[in-house]
Amino acid sequence: MKLLRIDSSVRLENSKTRMLSDHFLTEFGKKVDFDLKTRDVGISPAPFPTDEFIKANYTKPDQRTEQMKEVLSTSDTLIDELIEADKVIIGSPMYNFSISASLKSYIDNIVRVGRTFALDENGAMKGLLAGKKVVVITSRGAFSYKSGAALESFDFQQSYLTALLNFVGITDITFVNAEAQDFGQDNVKATNFEEAKQQLSELATVW
Ligand SMILES: Cc1cc2nc3c(=O)[nH]c(=O)nc-3n(C[C@H](O)[C@H](O)[C@H](O)COP(=O)(O)O)c2cc1C
Repeated sequence: MKLLRIDSSVRLENSKTRMLSDHFLTEFGKKVDFDLKTRDVGISPAPFPTDEFIKANYTKPDQRTEQMKEVLSTSDTLIDELIEADKVIIGSPMYNFSISASLKSYIDNIVRVGRTFALDENGAMKGLLAGKKVVVITSRGAFSYKSGAALESFDFQQSYLTALLNFVGITDITFVNAEAQDFGQDNVKATNFEEAKQQLSELATVW
């Protein structure tokens, strides 16, 4: 079983998403042996797409120059390791009600026609990564993003990542969200963090 862990917090210390991903991996490792590949785009971001990248991407693979292949090489590496993975853990801090720029630039590198989605003769799009399981571990500074709560409509993180993963064919997605990690009172912070840990421990037994 091949597992890919993606981290996208820019924090070097005390990152809640990293701590929760560590916890989940420890718990999951009690049940299953796996080969782990880690990709930390928070610390080493993937490059933003450029004009050259777009031109290379939209050139048919057999017509690409050596320079175009070079321009796409990081993206190809990221896609190869994603295709290889059976299961994926994504650590995603909420930044300005959505994902971090580091995770967005990763996404801009891995969503590519002919590699992670395809177009049929009618122009309909089909995701090519079907069958993978994903757990997304988020941390948010504030609280009230839960269903029916005050900031529910501000949560573009879960809706965006769900739509994006669906687009590339992934439908087995579980979110575990730790809220109130910056602005909650200490006991609220701790309770929310422990609840997320507990959810992850339970998920590890069935994932
Ligand atoms: C640039 C930036 C933007 C943020 N925006 C939000 C936000 O919109 N809503 C929120 O609840 N928390 C926000 N936060 C707080 C983070 O979600 C919180 O610190 C979370 O724990 C980050 O994950 P990490 O601990 O793994 O870095 C923001 C933090 C940063 C650094």
